[in-house]
Amino acid sequence: MTPNEKQINRPIAVFDSGVGGVSVLRELRRMMPYEQFLYYGDSANAPYGEKTPSWILDRVTTCVTEITTYSPKALVVACNTATGVAISTLRAAFTAFPIIGIEPSVKPAAEQFPGGNVAVLATPVTLEQRKFANLLQKYSDKAHFYPLPCPGLAEAVEKEEDVRPLLTTLFTQTKIPTPNALVLGCTHYPLIKEEIQAVCQKLFCRTLPILDGGPGTARQTQRLLEAAGTLAPATQCGSVTVINTAGSAMEALTTKLLAKNEKNGD
Ligand code: DGL
Repeated sequence: MTPNEKQINRPIAVFDSGVGGVSVLRELRRMMPYEQFLYYGDSANAPYGEKTPSWILDRVTTCVTEITTYSPKALVVACNTATGVAISTLRAAFTAFPIIGIEPSVKPAAEQFPGGNVAVLATPVTLEQRKFANLLQKYSDKAHFYPLPCPGLAEAVEKEEDVRPLLTTLFTQTKIPTPNALVLGCTHYPLIKEEIQAVCQKLFCRTLPILDGGPGTARQTQRLLEAAGTLAPATQCGSVTVINTAGSAMEALTTKLLAKNEKNGD
């Protein structure tokens, strides 16, 4: 067996602080249905987005160390917060497989809505990172970006709460002009797209175009595996194994959300 043939049968690991990475896993499975995926959520320690960067770095390193015991052929960090804080350290520390991160879709928003007002919803930590400041600066002459920190929102998704009251407060508390589009810079938020649109309808009298980093991250993962010659063949049966640090209830919620999102398929 060549080294590549050995890699082909290994799983693609997908990591998030909790269930949010399902919005990326959905895109990965849509593009690569023959792959075996290992979804690792750290709900016992979520949310990450309101903790300190050093705490997040420690926690992410612990999780990825555990993920390496499953010998993945690639790791997708399906968490904007973890990517913003830890991606460079992870790439330096774990060199046996490619590591793909996610970032808020500022670039596609700048291209699609030139001159427009774009609200970027994300965790406080993501919006405080230098990585995000650099990204905004790069495209600030193309469109007007309004960062909208959303403390409590990922946690509400983890708890399956009604997020509409919190969303209404978040939108009305921060003074931003009526947006032409929204960037969802946290992987939990695409899971509540319907609720976000309902709140937009109420506040802005219309639904809004929504962008998230899931499709771009999935494309980048596919590109890297293709270049390495380690994509699974169409004869392989795709699968998803779910591990969650909070135990079986959160593993069941992950599976339920994935099924719901794959059925919706928008
Ligand atoms: N899903 C994560 C992200 O994309 C973070 C949620 C959290 O744990 O705060 O940022």
